[in-house]
Amino acid sequence: MKIITDIAEMKRISKDLKKPHGRVSFIPTMGKLHGGHIRLIEEGKKYGKTVVSIFVNPMQFGMDEDFKNYPRDLENDAKILRGLNIAYLFSPATDIVKNTETFVAGPKYSNQLEGIFRPEHFRGVLTIVMKLFCIINPDFAFFGLKDYQQYILIKKMARDYFLDVQIIPVETVREKCGLAMSSRNTYFNETDKKNACNFHKSLKKTADLFKAGEKSGGKLTLFAIKELIKSGFEIDYAKIMDKGLSIEKQSVEAGDILISAIRFKGVRLIDNIFFE
Ligand code: PAF
Repeated sequence: MKIITDIAEMKRISKDLKKPHGRVSFIPTMGKLHGGHIRLIEEGKKYGKTVVSIFVNPMQFGMDEDFKNYPRDLENDAKILRGLNIAYLFSPATDIVKNTETFVAGPKYSNQLEGIFRPEHFRGVLTIVMKLFCIINPDFAFFGLKDYQQYILIKKMARDYFLDVQIIPVETVREKCGLAMSSRNTYFNETDKKNACNFHKSLKKTADLFKAGEKSGGKLTLFAIKELIKSGFEIDYAKIMDKGLSIEKQSVEAGDILISAIRFKGVRLIDNIFFE
């Protein structure tokens, strides 16, 4: 596997990969790769020649967040990628967001859900993803549905800027107990990780209540909140929205989404579930 640290070289390689009719799949990550990333990569490989990037983007972390301590393990990540037969890893040698003077900002509703608790987050995400798209110019880019609001905003960015990239959503990969895989799960000890599994279980119970006939957004949300509190979670938000995340639903229908962020033992987790 070739580890590319230079922007000009990455651009050149990407251009070559597209010759004469090659398609490039791109999986942007912040490293500390886990089953969720592996699933994105496996999906990417089905669509084209695959490039993975690893860059812990300072611009998407708030002042009081875990940028400094965010888990990093480039050596092991490279081993995983070699095992997956990935030919190209882009790992920029310099901070490619430093000194940026123009930014990609999300629409008004990026200031809801995650945006309320992490006001600069999506500006940081959209700006780095746009930069990576400009360097790699992929035909396909893959994003996990755990970060559902991120996926929606990146799709809108690609549409608004007429980018020639197709944004492909990939199902959340979960531990056996239902906990969504996340690099931040490494912050938990075994006992706390086990208790964190109740996050998904609470969302699942709410989805089951919908299946059993409850359609009131208010009642379902209250049920979810009570379940989350019972497990000892501090809730940042738990909301039922339409799948485009534009309205909070009073009357819930199949296809709507329950989306939530909680804090537990100093770790912030996000997850969601669709009503069926
Ligand atoms: O989902 C992530 O890991 C990050 O937000 C991304 C898309 C790699 C941008 O830094």
